[in-house]
Amino acid sequence: MRNASASPSLYPIGPRQGILYVCNATKRMKRNVLLGVTGGVAAYRACDLARRLMESGIAVTVVMTRSATRFVTPLTFAALTGNPVYTDDDTHDDPMAHITLARKADLILVAPATANVLGKLACGVADDLLTTTLVAGNAPIIVVPAMNSQMWQNQAVVENVATLRARGVRFVGPAEGLLACGETGEGKMAPVEEIVAAVAEELALRRDLAGFRLLVTAGGTREPIDAVRYVGNRSTGKMGVALAEAAQARGADVTLIAAAMEVAPPEGIPLVRAETASAMRAALAERFEGCDGVVMAAAVGDYACADPAPGKVKKREAWRVELTPNPDLIAELGMKKRGRILVGFAAETDTPVEYGREKLIRKNLDLIVVNDVSRSDIGFGADQNEVIIIARSGETIAAPKAPKREVADAILDHVARLVAARTGEATA
Ligand code: CTP
Repeated sequence: MRNASASPSLYPIGPRQGILYVCNATKRMKRNVLLGVTGGVAAYRACDLARRLMESGIAVTVVMTRSATRFVTPLTFAALTGNPVYTDDDTHDDPMAHITLARKADLILVAPATANVLGKLACGVADDLLTTTLVAGNAPIIVVPAMNSQMWQNQAVVENVATLRARGVRFVGPAEGLLACGETGEGKMAPVEEIVAAVAEELALRRDLAGFRLLVTAGGTREPIDAVRYVGNRSTGKMGVALAEAAQARGADVTLIAAAMEVAPPEGIPLVRAETASAMRAALAERFEGCDGVVMAAAVGDYACADPAPGKVKKREAWRVELTPNPDLIAELGMKKRGRILVGFAAETDTPVEYGREKLIRKNLDLIVVNDVSRSDIGFGADQNEVIIIARSGETIAAPKAPKREVADAILDHVARLVAARTGEATA
């Protein structure tokens, strides 16, 4: 495995409370894509595109041409992106919106792009908000043409495309297929996955988990004691969801196995509900063979009721409930891992590094993420976390306090290093 000190995101701090490195999780910034939507039937597919870009961890701001608003409403994009949508009629009180938008964008994506916008861009025409923003910007541009195949082959369009390509504008598509006009040919908007991959490549986003089949568990299990009551814990699922989203953004093929959560499961990630430890055990068993790794972020109840009552137990003086230990799910997986990468969490209140190391070895894990659940600013339900990541090699890395999504990326940096090392070993 590569030495941690070789990684640019790790800084040695020397042995301090057993921690050797600090990583710069907080320095990671969200990338901004300006999505220009022009007027074609394919405008509706830009909705899915906006959603998929956001799932990849990209912030999306939409600018629509007047004719695009006749196909899809700005409200749809505003709801999908959580950002105001800019049109010629509404620049949200910014008289210099074209400059503001152009400066903010790390990349401008025009999808779908009509023959009209390609012509304007090739000639430097700036007669509406989208084209003035394109002319004002110096971010890379990707265009995704969608039009009738005769239009795509028209000599003027062909020359405009050549001009734009020569200037470094990147084209995705068009694809061949049945067009909105009923004809078949080249002119169909490229598949959304292809566009997202081009954006990721252009922004040099990490795709270091591409194709890695990852199971992520999240939330807290609930063990019934009767038909209406249960023994549970305070996990909200935020850390597990952040991990699932971050892994998907890095190209992993993620399945989320969710116990009780207070946050909505992410859209676009296959979800398996598993409320109890035994349901989670079954869900993991069913999918373990076909996975490459597991991140066990769920707070699995250590005990279940020995004999849950089938109905609702009536009120009475005292009620003795006998709890029996649940199996340790990740330790079970640790016994049959055969090259899979296993990441556990250790919820601790005292001497975290020592307990973390002990759990890592006892459960046969590759990484363990220790967090101090006694602190309300980073514990259950908090939006931020601060963790210590311990690897089997003994490397111990402190990820400073940061939003859970950034901490998730810091954890996945280490998973990606293990994946790269194993791929290297396999091909050597
Ligand atoms: N875990 C599990 N099955 C259990 C209990 C825990 O798979 N029955 C997993 C958790 O998802 C976590 C790791 O084991 O990834 C450590 O959980 P934690 O609660 O910190 O430790 P425990 O092993 O339960 O030990 P203790 O509660 O005594 O600290």
